[in-house]
Amino acid sequence: MQGWIIPLPKEPSKSKEDFSKERKKKLKWLIRQGYLKSERIKDAMSKVPREDFIPLMYKDYSYLEVPLPLPGKKATISCPHSYPLFYEPLGLDTGHKFLEVGLGSGYGTAVAREIVGPEGLVVSIEIDPLTFEFARKNLENEGYNDIVLVKGDGGLGYPEMSSYDRICVTAACLEIPPPLIEQLRIGGRLIAPLIEFGSQNLVLLEKSEKEIIRKVICQVLYVSLRGIYGVSED
Ligand SMILES: C[S@@+](CC[C@H](N)C(=O)[O-])C[C@H]1O[C@@H](n2cnc3c(N)ncnc32)[C@H](O)[C@@H]1O
Repeated sequence: MQGWIIPLPKEPSKSKEDFSKERKKKLKWLIRQGYLKSERIKDAMSKVPREDFIPLMYKDYSYLEVPLPLPGKKATISCPHSYPLFYEPLGLDTGHKFLEVGLGSGYGTAVAREIVGPEGLVVSIEIDPLTFEFARKNLENEGYNDIVLVKGDGGLGYPEMSSYDRICVTAACLEIPPPLIEQLRIGGRLIAPLIEFGSQNLVLLEKSEKEIIRKVICQVLYVSLRGIYGVSED
């Protein structure tokens, strides 16, 4: 699989109306392509202004299908199709307690918060202090003040609030960090990009009393997980 070609940084020139039109167009495209199926994820994505989670010099590219750089080491905001790609098979729904590993820009976190609603809870962990601060400010500016934001190694999960109905890992791992499987409730689902035989598979796990059922969704390309269960020691 080839890498992404990131557009060059430039002064933003688009208005709120331009972005709003682009968002609507993108949602239609995601539906046509078969990524976006459920009303609740569609509603959430139409509510959250993705451009408000993107660094100034990349804002004009908010709705392009490319990951864009964020403050921090190798951090990126994933491309727009990534969110339904992860959240649809997860079956993320109203009332879920959701753990995200890899907060990034905070965009996916905000979309998840819209999906789970006030009856649910979103916990998100980010290892990079610069990225964490960027996301924290974005979420604060957008009025999301009931999300639990944790600065640290998401490979360890966040046992304080476990167990979780759904877990999403947004960076590629060599193995699913065992603490995350432990912190998933019985009947819960976890999704993560897994490095296997030189490429990355998006893998969905479902935990039952007796076993973990595994399904490969498709091939993907994500930045590597850092920390104890990370790909490199940094
Ligand atoms: C692809 S980005 C996440 C994009 C995010 N979903 C968004 O909407 O912007 C992956 C993120 O995982 C973070 N990360 C990598 N290893 C991590 C770890 N062990 N714990 C927590 N975050 C980690 C990276 O710093 C990066 O911000």
